[in-house]
Amino acid sequence: MIRDALYLAHAFYFRAEGSRCQEIGYVDLKRKARLKNHTLLFFFLALLTVSCGNASTQVVPKPATSAPLQALRSLAQARGMYIGTAVNVDALQNEEQYREVLAREFNIMTPEVSLKFDATEPERNQYDFAEGDTIVAFAKAHNMQVRGHTLVWFRALPSWLTAGKFSRSELMQILRGHIFTEVAHYQGQITIWDVVNEAVNGDGTLRDTIWLRGIGPDYIDWAFRWAHEANPQARLFYNDFGGEGSGRKSDAIYSLVKGLLQRGVPIGGVGLQMHIGIDSYPAPQAVLANMQRLTALGLEVQITEMDVQIQGDRRPVQTRLALQAQVYRDMLGVCLEVVGCTAFVMWGFTDLYSWLPGPDAPVIFDRDYRPKPAYFALMGDLDSG
Ligand code: G3I
Repeated sequence: MIRDALYLAHAFYFRAEGSRCQEIGYVDLKRKARLKNHTLLFFFLALLTVSCGNASTQVVPKPATSAPLQALRSLAQARGMYIGTAVNVDALQNEEQYREVLAREFNIMTPEVSLKFDATEPERNQYDFAEGDTIVAFAKAHNMQVRGHTLVWFRALPSWLTAGKFSRSELMQILRGHIFTEVAHYQGQITIWDVVNEAVNGDGTLRDTIWLRGIGPDYIDWAFRWAHEANPQARLFYNDFGGEGSGRKSDAIYSLVKGLLQRGVPIGGVGLQMHIGIDSYPAPQAVLANMQRLTALGLEVQITEMDVQIQGDRRPVQTRLALQAQVYRDMLGVCLEVVGCTAFVMWGFTDLYSWLPGPDAPVIFDRDYRPKPAYFALMGDLDSG
C-alpha cells in the first residue's frame, strides 16, 4: 500500500516538473512497476531523480537574467538612431506582454502586413486603414515612428488587381490613386515610406511584375514622384533583400537608385532587408562598403527587416544562439559606423511571432519574451558609444 502511494507520488512529481523527463519518468515507472520488485523500484526512482534533474537544462539554455533596466530604445535614442521591429497587428491588439516589450524596447516599427496593397485597398477605390490606424495610434501613444511598408510590390496584391485587365494609363491611374490616398491618409503620421519593394532580381535585372508588364520600367520613377507629391516631407525608400553586401544584385540596386537621382526622382534612401542566417550572411566589410557608396550618393540607408535563421544546423543550440548574436552584433556595428545609416529594424522581435515557420528562432526574444544572447549583443553595441 505505502509503496503504491510512493510510486504514484513520484509519478506525479515528474509530471509537475514538465521537462523532457515527464514522459520518461511516467511511462518507465509504470513499466518497471510491473517488475513487482520493490527494492528495484526504489533503485529506479533514485536513478531517475538524478538523471532527470540534469537532462532538462540541456534542452534550451535559460537566459541569465530578465531584460536589463536599460532598454534598446533608450540607448539607440542616445545615439540618435532608430531601433525597431515589424509589428504583428493581431498580437498588438490581443497581447499585453507583446505591447509592453514593443513600447519598452523600440522607437520605430513597421506594419508587417497592414499597409500593403491587399490590406488597404481590398476592392478598387475602397480603402481600409483600420489596422494601419491602430498601429499608428499605438506609435503616437508611445512616441514611436512608423515605417510605411509598402506602396508598390509584386506580392500582397488584391485579386481585383491581379485578375484585372488594365491598359497602361489605367494601371498608372490605379497606382497613382493608391499611392496618393494611402500617403495622404497618413500625412504627418508616417514620415518614412518603402515606396517600391523588391523590384530587382538576383541577376540584377528588373523583376517581372504586374507593374513592369503593365506600365514599364518607369513605374519606379512614377511611384516615387507620386509619393513625393502626396507628402513632400516624407523620406522615400527603395527596399530590397539580397543586395546588402557586394554582388550583381547590390550593384544593380546601386545603379537603379543612382539613375533615379540623376533623373531628379525624389528618392531619399535605400532599405537593406537583411533576411539572413548563421550560415548565410554578407561579410560585414562588404555591407560597410555598400552602405558607404549609397550614402556617398546623399542617400540614407536603413537595415529594415533583419532576422537571422538558426534552423537547419546541427550544432548545439547554445552555439547557434551565440553565432546569431555575433551576426546581429556585426550588422548593427556596421550601421553604427556609417553616418547616414539611420535605423536598425528587425522583422519581428519574439520568436512567437515570426514569418519564418516553426522551430526557427530568428529574432532577439524567445517565445516567452526572454531576451536571447542576440539582445545583449545589440545592447552591447549601443552601449559602447
Ligand atoms: O490574415 C490572414 C488570415 O486571416 C488568413 O486566415 C491567413 C491564411 O491565409 O492569412 C493571413 O494573412 C497572411 C498574413 O501574412 C498575415 O499573417 C497572408 O496569407 C500571408 O501572405 C502574409 O505573409 C506576409 C508576407 O510578407 C506577405 O505580405 C508575412 O507575414 C510577412 O512577414 C512578409 O514580409 C515580407 C516583407 O513585407 C517584404 N520582405 C520579405 C518579408 C518576408 O516575406
